[in-house]
Amino acid sequence: MLPIAVFKLLEENDIKLLKILEKGMFHFEFVPIDYVVRKTRVEASLLSRNLSKLCRLGLVRRSFGAYEGYSLTRWGYDCLALSYLVSNNILEAIGKPLGIGKEADVYDAITPLGERVAVKFHRLGRTSFKKTRRVRTYVADRDKVSWLIQSKMAAKREFEALKLLYPKGVSVPKPKAWNRHVIVMSYIEGDPLYVCDFLPDPIGFLNDVLGNIQKSYRDVGVVHGDLSEYNIIVTPEIKPLIIDWPQFVSAIHPSAFSLLKRDVFNVLRFFERRFRVKVDFKSVFEYIIGE
Ligand SMILES: Nc1ncnc2c1ncn2[C@@H]1O[C@H](COP(=O)(O)OP(=O)(O)O)[C@@H](O)[C@H]1O
Ligand SMILES: [Mg+2]
Repeated sequence: MLPIAVFKLLEENDIKLLKILEKGMFHFEFVPIDYVVRKTRVEASLLSRNLSKLCRLGLVRRSFGAYEGYSLTRWGYDCLALSYLVSNNILEAIGKPLGIGKEADVYDAITPLGERVAVKFHRLGRTSFKKTRRVRTYVADRDKVSWLIQSKMAAKREFEALKLLYPKGVSVPKPKAWNRHVIVMSYIEGDPLYVCDFLPDPIGFLNDVLGNIQKSYRDVGVVHGDLSEYNIIVTPEIKPLIIDWPQFVSAIHPSAFSLLKRDVFNVLRFFERRFRVKVDFKSVFEYIIGE
């Protein structure tokens, strides 16, 4: 669960300390106490007290190795992002989870103006790479980068995709804000396509989905790369909305073509199995790439 209650217990000093650990994590798995002392100019005994509080709250972990060192936990990282989003008047309160996945947790939330939004916390590095299905072209050296950098990179990429797609009229959530591993976007009502056993007009719906794939590819130059019935939401107006874009690739990326093929294939296979809609892959694909 999210440390919302915990977040409220934090003082400015705590946030400062978390930020120092965040920086230190680029160099150390456990940030040595000496490093923290140098950065804060507060003596070690005082710092240890503050750090113990953060450990108790689950935001920081202490190493019992060769030296006294501390590392930020995912909760600690969540608190930093929340602190930014709250102090910049982007978020007022966070509500219940909308979807807890393998690679992200999405929460219902509200802005200071009372607008309902969705907040997505990227959580990469939670499972081993061998088990993850996605092609992660945005991670340069997958073994060396930590969960923190990967999660932040995923949020940045997804926000970037939404910023490109939304203004061009592709049916995606409206991007609102990005900080660290978190993005804030418009809240979408509806259910994921995979739970839908009935659509009044499956062929019409499929055409809408394909139209959005075509627009992303041809007008925006973006390929989703992980498209399936899990990442398509059916809105109350029975229109598709495409979510979950962190692994997108540009249309000129060497893998773009094969990822696009897989995206289209996944969608067609689902419509065939679930709704008995059979269409010719080759002609659909030619329509999408404009041949
Ligand atoms: N903008 C949104 N509005 C409402 N619910 C959302 C929104 N984005 C995601 N969700 C919910 O969260 C779930 C997971 O989101 P998704 O972006 O697919 O992340 P992942 O699959 O990586 O965990 C979705 O299946 C959906 O139920
Ligand atoms: Mg998803």
